[in-house]
Amino acid sequence: MGVVIALLVICAMFSGSFASDPDMLQDICVADLTSGVTVNGYPCKNAGNVSEADFFYEGLAKAGMTNTSMGSLVTPANVEKIPGLNTLGVSLSRIDFAVGGLNPPHTHPRATELAFVLEGQLDVGFITTANVLVSKTIKKGDIFVFPRGLVHFQKNNANVSAALISAFNSQLPGTQSIAVTLFASSPSVPDDVLTKAFQIGTKEVDKIKSRLAPKK
Ligand SMILES: *[C@@H]1O[C@H](CO)[C@@H](O)[C@H](O)[C@H]1NC(C)=O
Ligand SMILES: *[C@@H]1O[C@H](CO)[C@@H](O)[C@H](O)[C@H]1NC(C)=O
Ligand SMILES: *[C@@H]1O[C@H](CO)[C@@H](O)[C@H](O)[C@H]1NC(C)=O
Repeated sequence: MGVVIALLVICAMFSGSFASDPDMLQDICVADLTSGVTVNGYPCKNAGNVSEADFFYEGLAKAGMTNTSMGSLVTPANVEKIPGLNTLGVSLSRIDFAVGGLNPPHTHPRATELAFVLEGQLDVGFITTANVLVSKTIKKGDIFVFPRGLVHFQKNNANVSAALISAFNSQLPGTQSIAVTLFASSPSVPDDVLTKAFQIGTKEVDKIKSRLAPKK
């Protein structure tokens, strides 16, 4: 019996440590974003150089400009913006949507996302590895969860602009936007991979590539 309980405790500990960023080993480790030292995360600034500014960010206070090709804009508040988040395993983003705006299908390899509707209404969904779409219309004040690593999207099909505040269990969740990843990487994914994967011709592949190419 004791052995079983010990095993359960060990399993719980390991599942915990693999579910998010590594745990911290000290009170604070404010990121030294300018250090040339490469570690998992960022090295810590000298304690004497740490100030309240390292734990502060006002970048989510205002709506982002949504005049993008997708009609949406993600404003991250991660360790790159808030150095004090280094080793703490959390971050936020604000996502603003024009009418008709889309945050196109993407994944966060390092975090689960917990989205709170700040304004408006959104049609959101994620797709499981069993290829099941889990989707819902969410409105101001609602929360929706996008499990770590699963492809998901948000679309504003209402007639007013919308905004989300999303929380992540990573200081830097990372984002791979499916279409851009496959059709606008550098160097580019070979056409023969994309024509076979999507069962389309080279002409269609080139058309998508040119539309998604970063604007110069
Ligand atoms: C700490 O601040 C001083 C003065 O601004 C600077 O010279 C020094 O490089 C900083 N050290 C670190 C580790 O950031
Ligand atoms: C969006 O509009 C602002 C000003 O209204 C402009 O400065 C910015 O360049 C525009 N962005 C895009 C992607 O068109
Ligand atoms: C926007 O939608 C609301 C609720 O569906 C409706 O009452 C309103 O007339 C719509 N406004 C416009 C400008 O379409």
